[in-house]
Amino acid sequence: MQGADRQSDTDRIERFSKPVPRYTSYPTAPHFHEDITSPDYRTWLSGLDRETAISLYVHIPFCDRLCWFCGCTTKQIARYDPVPLYLKHVHAELDLVRAAIGFRPSIHHLHLGGGSPSMVRPADLERLRRALDDRFDFTEDACISIEIDPSDQADDALSGLRAMGMTRASIGVQDFEPRVQEAINRPQSFAETAQTVEALRSIGVHSLNIDALYGLPYQTEKTVEDSIAKVVSLEPDRIALFGYAHVPWMKKHQTLIPEAALPGPPERFAQARLAADILVGNGYVPIGIDHFARPDDSLARAAAEGRLRRNFQGYTDDSCMTLVGIGASSIGRLPQGYVQNETATGTYMRQVAAGELPIARGVALTAEDHLCSDVIEDLMCRFGFSLKRIAARHGQRADLISRRVAEAMRGADAELVTFDGDWFGVRREARAFTRTVASWFDERLRQKAARYSMAV
Ligand SMILES: C[S@@+](CC[C@H](N)C(=O)[O-])C[C@H]1O[C@@H](n2cnc3c(N)ncnc32)[C@H](O)[C@@H]1O
Ligand code: SF4
Repeated sequence: MQGADRQSDTDRIERFSKPVPRYTSYPTAPHFHEDITSPDYRTWLSGLDRETAISLYVHIPFCDRLCWFCGCTTKQIARYDPVPLYLKHVHAELDLVRAAIGFRPSIHHLHLGGGSPSMVRPADLERLRRALDDRFDFTEDACISIEIDPSDQADDALSGLRAMGMTRASIGVQDFEPRVQEAINRPQSFAETAQTVEALRSIGVHSLNIDALYGLPYQTEKTVEDSIAKVVSLEPDRIALFGYAHVPWMKKHQTLIPEAALPGPPERFAQARLAADILVGNGYVPIGIDHFARPDDSLARAAAEGRLRRNFQGYTDDSCMTLVGIGASSIGRLPQGYVQNETATGTYMRQVAAGELPIARGVALTAEDHLCSDVIEDLMCRFGFSLKRIAARHGQRADLISRRVAEAMRGADAELVTFDGDWFGVRREARAFTRTVASWFDERLRQKAARYSMAV
């Protein structure tokens, strides 16, 4: 990159990169509160109608090793015993949820996330699938996906995945450079990753995503270039390219990351851009702020057809408006609002054992939340929104958005955006700051600030 370009990037980053939410939901998780309880959730579930398309998320909060960069809700276990015990409670929670719904709902998507669901033994995965089939109807073309850590897999993991009926897998890579891997406690060779990819393809899992990170300790443009080239050589259908979120005040183990070795904002920006250039150069289509997909992948098709959505896993082509979260810390989204289960597995299991939906917190959506949520999802998925379309959906309430647009166009950061009287959009060269632009329409953030990771 030329010196002058780098300088203007540095200026832009200094001015516009702020700690802002990732907007995987609106309202965002810091706005959930304890006034939303199990009885509220039961009422919400009982209000679902039979035609509602439902997605399920099941959280497996265990890993055999803790990666020091990890921001997920998980814990390291030395023995396998806690897993079947936990899954017994997951089955019990499925009963509670199914009883509250009151009929057998149709499931279009099932995602097993974590933690490392790949460490669940095949017999337990089979039992989980049976428990799901006993209570829900999967549609013929249901998408069933799982997160896989190639270095943390049960013996004969493939037979479990087959039994689950996996159609899609997401493989964690992060980075292949040994020095980086050592600094984040994530040893994982290219050979074992390639073997996992091949094995998944051999059992018919043809939609594969790979997670890669930039902004990790000791990463440089050169190491990112090498790692991304290796990722590309595995020919995944999708790649999620996340910036490492360093939040040691929330995740104590991140204090083990050597902060002096972390790339600064300009380096992070350069790494992200370089990785994106390599991916685009290899035929991947950029999707939203941090995903890439082959043009024939369903995510790329959804983006091209304006159907891209944002949820807790990032970007998705899942059109279901209702997401039921199962397991400790899982978040559910219903037409009335969001709910989150107890985060600590012990508390979660005690509550389920007592026959209670294990809700810890949530938020009921107001009409203003629906408005802001639409605008923010449009910005995150399409880099802009039409004021006319927002007004057609939300009537007079959309005046608030017109006012925010006017303020933005007069504001000090107006150079990030364009407005033609209807379409308000993030400029192409400013897309790295989309989260910052989205935060201008976050009315809840105006009322109550929280602490977030940096936008770039
Ligand atoms: C639940 S983990 C993935 C599954 C599996 N446990 C693994 O590590 O391969 C989901 C993804 O979140 C991303 N992630 C975790 N912690 C992060 C952090 N602090 N900042 C950015 N991305 C993070 C990683 O890319 C990771 O692959
Ligand atoms: S294996 Fe995945 S979930 Fe577990 S600690 Fe590492 S990144 Fe986090």
